[in-house]
Amino acid sequence: MPLRSLAAAAALVCAAPWCAAQDANLARNLAATCANCHGTNGNVRGKDVKPLAGVAAEKILAQIADFKSGAQPATIMHQIAKGYTDEQLKLIANYYAAQKPAQ
Ligand code: HEC
Repeated sequence: MPLRSLAAAAALVCAAPWCAAQDANLARNLAATCANCHGTNGNVRGKDVKPLAGVAAEKILAQIADFKSGAQPATIMHQIAKGYTDEQLKLIANYYAAQKPAQ
Protein backbone atom coordinates (compact mmCIF):
# COMPACT_ATOMS: atom_id res chain seq x y z
CA MET A 1 0.00 0.00 0.00
CA PRO A 2 1.47 3.41 -0.90
CA LEU A 3 2.35 5.61 2.05
CA ARG A 4 -0.31 8.20 1.18
CA SER A 5 -3.12 5.65 1.26
CA LEU A 6 -1.81 4.34 4.54
CA ALA A 7 -1.86 7.81 6.06
CA ALA A 8 -5.33 8.42 4.68
CA ALA A 9 -6.55 5.15 6.13
CA ALA A 10 -5.03 6.02 9.50
CA ALA A 11 -6.67 9.44 9.42
CA LEU A 12 -10.02 7.85 8.66
CA VAL A 13 -9.75 5.39 11.52
CA CYS A 14 -8.66 8.13 13.89
CA ALA A 15 -11.47 10.49 12.97
CA ALA A 16 -13.58 8.37 15.30
CA PRO A 17 -14.02 9.86 18.78
CA TRP A 18 -12.66 6.72 20.44
CA CYS A 19 -9.32 7.04 18.67
CA ALA A 20 -7.76 8.39 21.82
CA ALA A 21 -4.08 8.23 20.93
CA GLN A 22 -4.56 10.78 18.16
CA ASP A 23 -6.29 13.35 20.33
CA ALA A 24 -3.74 15.97 21.35
CA ASN A 25 -6.16 17.37 23.95
CA LEU A 26 -6.99 14.03 25.56
CA ALA A 27 -5.02 14.63 28.77
CA ARG A 28 -6.49 18.11 29.20
CA ASN A 29 -10.01 16.86 28.50
CA LEU A 30 -9.71 13.99 30.96
CA ALA A 31 -8.21 16.32 33.56
CA ALA A 32 -11.14 18.68 33.08
CA THR A 33 -13.37 16.09 34.74
CA CYS A 34 -11.48 16.78 38.00
CA ALA A 35 -11.73 20.56 37.68
CA ASN A 36 -15.20 20.90 39.21
CA CYS A 37 -13.71 20.12 42.57
CA HIS A 38 -9.95 20.61 42.17
CA GLY A 39 -10.21 23.87 40.21
CA THR A 40 -9.36 24.98 36.70
CA ASN A 41 -5.98 23.46 35.79
CA GLY A 42 -5.84 22.06 39.31
CA ASN A 43 -5.85 25.44 41.03
CA VAL A 44 -8.76 25.24 43.44
CA ARG A 45 -10.10 28.22 45.35
CA GLY A 46 -11.01 27.49 48.94
CA LYS A 47 -9.52 24.97 51.31
CA ASP A 48 -11.84 21.97 51.22
CA VAL A 49 -10.25 20.20 48.28
CA LYS A 50 -6.51 20.25 47.65
CA PRO A 51 -5.06 21.70 44.45
CA LEU A 52 -3.42 19.31 41.98
CA ALA A 53 -1.44 21.85 39.96
CA GLY A 54 2.28 21.20 40.16
CA VAL A 55 1.89 18.07 42.30
CA ALA A 56 4.25 15.29 41.16
CA ALA A 57 2.49 12.77 38.91
CA GLU A 58 3.82 9.89 41.04
CA LYS A 59 2.23 11.42 44.13
CA ILE A 60 -1.14 11.91 42.43
CA LEU A 61 -1.06 8.34 41.09
CA ALA A 62 -0.10 6.92 44.49
CA GLN A 63 -2.94 8.80 46.19
CA ILE A 64 -5.43 7.67 43.56
CA ALA A 65 -4.23 4.07 43.97
CA ASP A 66 -4.80 4.36 47.73
CA PHE A 67 -8.31 5.71 47.16
CA LYS A 68 -8.98 2.89 44.68
CA SER A 69 -7.78 0.17 47.06
CA GLY A 70 -9.46 1.71 50.09
CA ALA A 71 -6.13 2.21 51.89
CA GLN A 72 -6.97 5.93 52.04
CA PRO A 73 -10.51 6.60 53.28
CA ALA A 74 -12.43 9.11 51.18
CA THR A 75 -15.83 10.70 50.81
CA ILE A 76 -15.84 10.71 47.00
CA MET A 77 -12.40 9.95 45.55
CA HIS A 78 -12.67 6.18 46.04
CA GLN A 79 -15.55 6.20 43.56
CA ILE A 80 -13.93 8.64 41.14
CA ALA A 81 -10.64 6.72 41.19
CA LYS A 82 -12.41 3.60 39.95
CA GLY A 83 -13.86 5.41 36.94
CA TYR A 84 -10.62 5.69 35.00
CA THR A 85 -8.14 3.27 33.44
CA ASP A 86 -4.50 3.34 34.53
CA GLU A 87 -3.61 4.93 31.19
CA GLN A 88 -6.17 7.70 31.68
CA LEU A 89 -4.97 8.34 35.23
CA LYS A 90 -1.38 8.63 34.00
CA LEU A 91 -2.45 11.21 31.41
CA ILE A 92 -4.38 13.14 34.05
CA ALA A 93 -1.55 13.00 36.62
CA ASN A 94 1.04 14.14 34.07
CA TYR A 95 -1.25 16.95 32.99
CA TYR A 96 -1.66 18.29 36.52
CA ALA A 97 2.03 17.84 37.35
CA ALA A 98 2.79 20.14 34.41
CA GLN A 99 0.39 22.89 35.52
CA LYS A 100 1.64 25.99 37.31
CA PRO A 101 0.42 26.29 40.92
CA ALA A 102 -1.48 29.56 41.51
CA GLN A 103 0.47 30.65 44.61
C1 HEC B 1 -16.79 15.69 43.23
C2 HEC B 1 -15.58 16.40 43.56
C3 HEC B 1 -14.26 15.79 43.11
C4 HEC B 1 -13.87 15.43 41.84
C5 HEC B 1 -14.70 15.51 40.56
C6 HEC B 1 -12.50 14.97 41.94
N1 HEC B 1 -12.07 15.05 43.23
FE1 HEC B 1 -10.22 14.52 43.94
N2 HEC B 1 -10.79 14.97 45.83
C7 HEC B 1 -12.06 15.37 46.20
C8 HEC B 1 -12.18 15.33 47.64
C9 HEC B 1 -13.41 15.72 48.46
C10 HEC B 1 -10.93 14.87 48.14
C11 HEC B 1 -10.56 14.52 49.60
C12 HEC B 1 -10.73 13.00 49.76
C13 HEC B 1 -12.21 12.60 49.78
O1 HEC B 1 -12.90 12.92 50.75
O2 HEC B 1 -12.68 11.93 48.81
C14 HEC B 1 -10.08 14.68 46.97
C15 HEC B 1 -8.76 14.28 47.02
C16 HEC B 1 -7.94 14.05 45.93
C17 HEC B 1 -6.53 13.76 45.97
C18 HEC B 1 -5.66 13.71 47.23
C19 HEC B 1 -5.15 15.11 47.48
C20 HEC B 1 -4.33 15.20 48.76
O3 HEC B 1 -3.25 15.80 48.70
O4 HEC B 1 -4.79 14.67 49.78
C21 HEC B 1 -6.11 13.58 44.71
C22 HEC B 1 -4.69 13.24 44.22
C23 HEC B 1 -7.26 13.77 43.84
N3 HEC B 1 -8.36 14.07 44.62
C24 HEC B 1 -7.22 13.66 42.47
C25 HEC B 1 -8.35 13.80 41.66
C26 HEC B 1 -8.34 13.55 40.23
C27 HEC B 1 -7.11 13.16 39.42
C28 HEC B 1 -9.61 13.76 39.80
C29 HEC B 1 -10.16 13.57 38.39
C30 HEC B 1 -9.98 12.26 37.81
C31 HEC B 1 -10.42 14.15 40.94
N4 HEC B 1 -9.62 14.15 42.04
C32 HEC B 1 -11.76 14.50 40.88
C33 HEC B 1 -13.08 15.76 45.36
C34 HEC B 1 -13.11 15.54 43.99
